[in-house]
Amino acid sequence: MSEIIAVINQKGGTGKTTTSHNLGYGLAQKGKKVLFIDLDPQGNLTFSCGIHEFNYTLADIIYQDVNILDTIVNVSKNVDLVPTDIELAHTELFLSKAEEREYILDKALKKISKKYDFIIIDCQTSLSVLTINALTAATRILIPMQLTILSLKGLDLINSTIDDVKRNLNENLKIIGVLPVMIDKRRKLSDEVIEIIEDNFDIPIFDSYVGLSVRAAEAPSFGKSVIEYAPSCKVSQSYQEFIKEFLKKIR
Ligand SMILES: Nc1ncnc2c1ncn2[C@@H]1O[C@H](COP(=O)(O)OP(=O)(O)OP(=O)(O)O)[C@@H](O)[C@H]1O
Ligand SMILES: [Mg+2]
Repeated sequence: MSEIIAVINQKGGTGKTTTSHNLGYGLAQKGKKVLFIDLDPQGNLTFSCGIHEFNYTLADIIYQDVNILDTIVNVSKNVDLVPTDIELAHTELFLSKAEEREYILDKALKKISKKYDFIIIDCQTSLSVLTINALTAATRILIPMQLTILSLKGLDLINSTIDDVKRNLNENLKIIGVLPVMIDKRRKLSDEVIEIIEDNFDIPIFDSYVGLSVRAAEAPSFGKSVIEYAPSCKVSQSYQEFIKEFLKKIR
């Protein structure tokens, strides 16, 4: 069975898509079979993978019209993707009325989970019913976060949502950790925020952290992850370090 990683943060622009992409690509480089699920109607992960044409999207799975196998496109060696476009935004209304609406993604993934070592779900910026579908299907949660005081407010909300999901929908869900991203290490504030997380939340924090680089922002326009586009840049090396730590924690 695969490990299903939901990459979440209900705050926008916290590196969810960048982290999903680089984690998946880096695991694939290590010979793991990876499936990306783009669970954000913005379709940023689909775009970042350089995928612009497809017959079906995740929305077709949500409407339960199409088998997940028919939606999967190959991105690169060991990497597949269930693509998404803006149509996904229209599924919210359907979902609000659907029976067992929290389990739709879970049911779809059960059909294919033997084919992949890791399924990585890039969530949208909100704790919507789509995100709840991700948390219901997931085995682990990864939270990329900038270490600012405002991000801490979000962590509280994420934590209580996860507790709700554990109680009602998926008792096996675990938080693998917070990955600090876009960190300017000269800022003393980062250390203070880490201390606050350690003192107030029962959430592990990765020792690895990812700094800032314009390369990270450029890579999506080339349809590549940073570690493929600019392997020697500091951000790529940090993501590689993170992947090693991630694999140790997942064992
Ligand atoms: N380490 C980094 N250094 C510099 N820029 C980065 C870095 N990581 C991500 N970015 C850029 O910051 C922006 C936000 O990152 P990303 O899209 O990964 O966040 P997100 O949480 O998925 O956003 P959204 O809430 O829109 O889904 C993007 O333009 C991305 O290219
Ligand atoms: Mg995103």
